[in-house]
Amino acid sequence: MLHRPAHWLYNHKLYFLARLLSQISRFFTNVEIHPGAKIGWGLFIDHGSGVVIGETTTIGNDCTIYQGVTLGGTGKETGKRHPTLCDNVIIGCGAKVLGPFKVGSNSKIASGAVVLEEVPENSTAVGVPAKIVRINGKKIYNSNKNLDHIHIPNPIQNQIQELSDRINELESKLNNKDFSK
Ligand SMILES: CC(C)(COP(=O)(O)OP(=O)(O)OC[C@H]1O[C@@H](n2cnc3c(N)ncnc32)[C@H](O)[C@@H]1OP(=O)(O)O)[C@@H](O)C(=O)NCCC(=O)NCCS
Repeated sequence: MLHRPAHWLYNHKLYFLARLLSQISRFFTNVEIHPGAKIGWGLFIDHGSGVVIGETTTIGNDCTIYQGVTLGGTGKETGKRHPTLCDNVIIGCGAKVLGPFKVGSNSKIASGAVVLEEVPENSTAVGVPAKIVRINGKKIYNSNKNLDHIHIPNPIQNQIQELSDRINELESKLNNKDFSK
C-alpha cells in the first residue's frame, strides 16, 4: 500500500519524499521496496521479513514472494539492473534473483536458489546457480544425480579389467586351439 504513493512520488521526481515513504514502510514491515520498482496487481509478500526489491525491478500481476527474497542486481550492470517477473511467478524463501533478465509467467523459483539467467515461462528453477529442472511440469534435469560423489568412475581399474578379460579370452582360445575367430 505504501509503495503505490511512493512510486507516484518517484514518477513525479519527488525522490526524497518517495524514499522517505519507502523507508517508513521498511521500518514497519522489514520489506524494502525501492520507490522506482514497477509492481502489478495482486502481489503477495508472505511473511515479508528481509525482502529487498531493487529500483529497476518490474513485477507482473498475481506474483508471490516469500521472506528473504532479493530481486537485485549483480553490481555489473548499469541502467536496467534488476529482474522482470512476468505474471503469476512464485519466488521461494531466501531466493536471490540477480540481473536484468525475465522470469517467465507461471514459473517457480525454489527456496534458496540464486538465479542469474533468464527463466522461461511455466518452469521451475532450483539451486545455486539455479538450473531449470521442470518445464510445463516435465522433468528436464536431475538435480540430485548431477554430481554423484559416491559412484565415481575409476578409469585405471576399468582398463585393468579390460586387459584381464582380453588375456582370459586369448588363453581360452589357446587352450582350445580355436583360431577361427
Ligand atoms: C521449487 C518448488 C516451488 C516446487 O516446484 P515444482 O515445480 O513443484 O518442483 P518439484 O517439487 O517437482 O521439484 C523439482 C526438483 O527440484 C528439487 N527441489 C525442489 N525445491 C528445491 C530447493 N528449494 N532447493 C533445491 N532443490 C529443490 C526437487 O527435489 C526436485 O528434484 P528431482 O527432480 O531431482 O527430484 C518448491 O520446492 C519450493 O521451493 N517452494 C518455495 C516454498 C517456500 O518458500 N515456502 C516458504 C514458506 S514459509
